[in-house]
Order: sequence, then structure tokens, then C-alpha cells
Amino acid sequence: MIKATFLFYGKGRCAACHSGDLLSDFKFHSIATPQGKFGVSVDGQDLGRSEISLRYGDRFKFKTPSLLDVSNTKPYGHNGVFNSLDGVVLFHLNPIPFFKDRDMSKGELYNYGRILASRSELLSYIEIFDEEEFQNLLEFLKTL
Ligand code: HEC
Repeated sequence: MIKATFLFYGKGRCAACHSGDLLSDFKFHSIATPQGKFGVSVDGQDLGRSEISLRYGDRFKFKTPSLLDVSNTKPYGHNGVFNSLDGVVLFHLNPIPFFKDRDMSKGELYNYGRILASRSELLSYIEIFDEEEFQNLLEFLKTL
């Protein structure tokens, strides 16, 4: 069995963003979080960091949250769109399953590609390949 800390700091590349004592680099990244119901831009969209910086490249970036006590802080994501810990972690690895049970509005259907394109390249280095590793990673998160 691979050590759970190695999954977080090694294969999972989680500490590329969730680093330091508080497990956050306090920087802004995009994991392509789907829109919630409220936002200050057109049609209730939330463009994230770019609402403030006005830079196109900052669109859909949000500050990395601390993971301390994370198993007790659901819902997840800045807008609470993820109901479960395994759901938000899986979304980092692969956003597709999230949409299986989601009732997408036409607006989201035609717009989500823009958000997906903002997804940080850092997420492409994650190397969690099986259920056992995924579950061990979740167990590690529950100890924080
Ligand atoms: C590219 C930087 C980055 C990497 C790498 C990353 N995360 Fe995240 N993570 C984020 C950001 C940014 C959010 C918040 C997204 C939002 O608010 O919509 C987040 C949210 C989370 C959350 C939800 C926390 C909350 O309170 O809402 C968990 C749990 C989490 N990440 C775990 C992980 C794990 C486990 C890994 C490794 C497999 C990982 N992250 C890798 C940037 C990253």
C-alpha cells in the first residue's frame, strides 16, 4: 500500500497548490469549478480573480483553500457546488463524472468550455490511477 502522505505530496501533486502549514499557497488557480447560482458578472457568472485584476488570464481562478479540518467543511468550492469530499477531489482528477448527474442549463451547456479551458496545467501532473490510491488519499485528507 502506498503511503497516503506520498499520494498527497508526490503522485497527487496536491502540494503544488495546497502547500505549507495551512495547505494553501494563497495563490489563485482554476480547477474549472462549475458556476454556482450567484456572481457579479453577466447572467450571474463569477469570473473569479479577474473580476478584480481585470486580466483575461485570471478568469475562473480562485484562491487555494486551506485543507485543515476539510472533512467537516462541506459543501466545497468557493460557491459550494461540490456536495462531497470525494466529489471535489475527483473533480481535480477528472471533471467529467460531475456532469453525469447535473442538470445543465442551456447557458452552462454552451459556456462551460470557456471555464474548462482555464483549468490549471498543474492538474495534469496528478498521477492517481486506481481506487485504492484514491481512497487512501481521501483517508489522508480526513486526518488534516
Ligand atoms: C492547481 C492548483 C491545485 C492543485 C494541484 C490541487 N488543488 Fe485542490 N483546490 C484548488 C483550488 C483553487 C480550489 C478551490 C476551487 C474553488 O474555490 O472553486 C481547491 C479545492 C480543493 C478542495 C475543496 C476545499 C474547500 O474547502 O472547498 C479539496 C478537498 C482539494 N482542493 C483537495 C485537493 C487534492 C486532494 C489535491 C491533489 C490530488 C488537490 N486539491 C490539488 C487548487 C488546487
